[in-house]
Parts: sequence; C-alpha cells; structure tokens
Amino acid sequence: MNIHDSEKIAGILESMGYAPCDKSEEADVVVFNTCCIRETAEQKIYGHIGALKKLKRANPDLIAVVCGCMSQQDGVAEKIRASYPFVDIVLGTSNLNLLGDAILSAQKKKKYFNVDFTRYREEDFVQSRTSYPNAWVNINFGCNNFCTYCIVPYVRGRERSRPLDDVMTEVRQLLADGYREITLLGQNVNSYGHDLDGGVTFATLLHAIGGLSGKFRLRFMTNHPKDLSRDVIDAIAAHPNICHNIHLPVQSGSTEILRRMNRRYTRDGYFALIDMIRASLPDVGISTDIMVGFPGETEEDFCDTLDLVRRVKFSSAFCFVYSRRKGTPAYSMEDQVPPTVKKDRITRLLACQNAVTKEISQTMIGKNYEVLVEGANFRYKNTMCGRTDGGRLVNFKCDESQIGNFVTVNIERASSATLWGVITEEK
Ligand code: 5AD
Ligand code: SF4
Repeated sequence: MNIHDSEKIAGILESMGYAPCDKSEEADVVVFNTCCIRETAEQKIYGHIGALKKLKRANPDLIAVVCGCMSQQDGVAEKIRASYPFVDIVLGTSNLNLLGDAILSAQKKKKYFNVDFTRYREEDFVQSRTSYPNAWVNINFGCNNFCTYCIVPYVRGRERSRPLDDVMTEVRQLLADGYREITLLGQNVNSYGHDLDGGVTFATLLHAIGGLSGKFRLRFMTNHPKDLSRDVIDAIAAHPNICHNIHLPVQSGSTEILRRMNRRYTRDGYFALIDMIRASLPDVGISTDIMVGFPGETEEDFCDTLDLVRRVKFSSAFCFVYSRRKGTPAYSMEDQVPPTVKKDRITRLLACQNAVTKEISQTMIGKNYEVLVEGANFRYKNTMCGRTDGGRLVNFKCDESQIGNFVTVNIERASSATLWGVITEEK
C-alpha cells in the first residue's frame, strides 16, 4: 500500500518537473512516506527526519516533507512542528493529492501542515509506476474492523470502495500499456463493494477483471478470514489468469487470543476456511501474517499457533512481535507479555515456519512452473527472479530483456525460502 502511495507522490513531483535522484545531499525535495504499524517503523522514521537537519543547513532551499500513516496519528503533526522545525510539509493519508499545492507553498518558504481527512480520488493522480511488470491498483481504502492491536483504522479512516467502472478503466489501461500482472490492494479486499450500489462484491470485480482477454496475472491482498467467501474462491477457480495465491492473515492459532484481538473467527473456523480453499484450488499457495506476544498470550496459546503453522503449511509467513500502539484497545490491556518471552516466541515461530517452507520447497524440485520474469536479483550476475502462480519466488539465469515475459522454469534446487531453476521454455 505504501509503495503504491509513493508512486503517487513521485507522480505529483515528476509532473511538477522534479526527477528522482540517488543521493539525499543532492535533492531539492525529500519526502518521507511513513508507516506506524509497529513502533520500530516509527523510530526509524524519527531517526531519518532528525538526519535532515544537517541537509537543511547545507541547503536551506531543501523542502522536507513527512506524509503517510505516522503523520496522520493524533498529535504527531504538532510533535513534528515543535521538535523538527526544519520540516516544511506534513500531510496525512487521505489528502496526498494536496502535495503539489504544498510544494508550491514551501517554495515560497511557507509551511504547509494539513492532516484533515479529505478523501482524494485516484483519478487526481498521475502515477509514476516503479514496479513493471506488476502494477498496484487500489480497490478500497481504510478499514472498519478495529482489530484491537491495530492502528490502521485510526490513520486510514473508514472503509471506502472505488466504483467498479473506475477500477476497470484503470486495469484496462494498464494492460493496454503492457503491464503483465495486476495486484489489487485493500486493507480488506473481501469487503470491496459493501458501500457501493448495485450489489457489487469482490467476486464481481474478480469475474470482471478475470474475464478480460490477453495474457496477464491477477493477484490481490489483503484478505480477512471472516469475510473470504466461497464466491471469491469460485471466481479464482473460474479464471486461469487469477493466481492461486491467497494471503490470509491468521494472526494467532488460539481462539481465545483471536477473540481478544477482535478478529471474529476461531481457530477451527480458520481450518475450515483452509479446507474449503484447498478443496477448490488444490495447488494454492497460502501465505499469512502472524503475531506473537499479544497481551495475555500464554505458552499454551503460543503452542496453538505453532501447531496451526505446522498443520496449515503456509507457503510463507510474515511474523511479527506485537507492538503496543497508543490509542488502540490492546494498548491498555493487562498481561502485556515481557520482551524476553516475545523474543523467545518469535525465534521459535520463525524456526517452525522455516521448516515448513523448506519441506514445501523440496516437493517443488524437478517440477516445472510458469513464472513471470519480474526483475534482476542483483546479488548474482545475469540472474532474474519471478514468482510462480502460487507466489513462490524463483531465481534463474537469463538477461534483463526477458523482464515482463512468461517462461517455464524447472526447479533444480532450494534453500529454505529461495528456489533456483532453469528456463525450459520461453513463451
Ligand atoms: N504489532 C505487531 N504487528 C502488527 N500488525 C498490525 N498491527 C500490529 C501491531 N500493533 C501486523 C499484523 C498485520 C500486518 C500488516 O501487521 O499481522 O496483518
Ligand atoms: Fe488492521 Fe484488522 Fe483492519 Fe487489518 S483488518 S488493517 S489488522 S484493523
């Protein structure tokens, strides 16, 4: 989501005549697009903002901008004004479209601080896309779920879906421009359409895009287990261009912790959902997000998470240590888990998932997979990488001219998360 917002920021700056540069010492404008989902993300940003002071002294005309989720939090704009007086512009998550005006103001040495929730339209942006052959497309913004640990509903506001026709126009244009993979973005893509007229649902959207002609891939994220319906699975099964890859954050394997998180599904409900998905899509790659150390998580709860990880066999998992976010209900829950226990649990969880990933990787050796060549793996010469339909990253030798092409790759070897193969067919 933030990478795509950065593409919008770059688009505004480029339309004003600015161009990207490699070194911040040479920049006329520095923009920090921030995240506040965990404390570590916030601490890093404050470090970076602090470092701007020196740059600003060397170049007083430098325009310093802070935008994104962190600046949208209560009190942060005031904190930046007081503690980092060299920052010229602060914008929130839902008024990024004002960046152009803000820059014009800052060019005249006038500060521009505005974190009002004034929704923009996607059509207000000329996007500077950076991820060819993939293109990100927002379909809904914000979140109404209020998981008790999560800051997102407070900084991204209430859920709002883009009209179906607007999404379709953007997708058609991207395909006409040569993009080979579309990734639909929303905090909860499964609730797409709830606020639109005409009974439009996420499944409607998948059928509409899946029915477009031409060779391309469709992915989407993120899914909420409580809202992922059979209609969506049927739509995936119905269209060969929709990838068999579902990111389905579980967060915890303990029903009691899920209840305290306000996730509104149970451990057994999650297993039933996995069974339903695999019955229709046997080759599906399911990835997830998991958190350890949520307030009140006992050793037994955590063991339930490890057990779920072993049983579901996720193709990959983003694993996080719970971070206390001010303003969320979990912030003031009793039984906060001590840091040493959190550290121990994240280490064990990572080891557990690594073993699962390794096991899945071994079963892929010797088999052929269709891969979209996505970009260079700069650590190795003449090595490109791309993903299988199920979402696993594969490395293989070929040159950059192949980026954007579909190839067949035979998997030869695997370290735990990384697969290596050779191209056996170019398409
Ligand atoms: N602490 C740790 N991880 C969090 N996430 C969301 N809020 C927090 C938090 N307070 C994780 C969840 C979510 C992912 C995007 O970030 O796992 O799915
Ligand atoms: Fe946060 Fe829950 Fe919304 Fe995801 S669904 S953004 S975890 S509140």
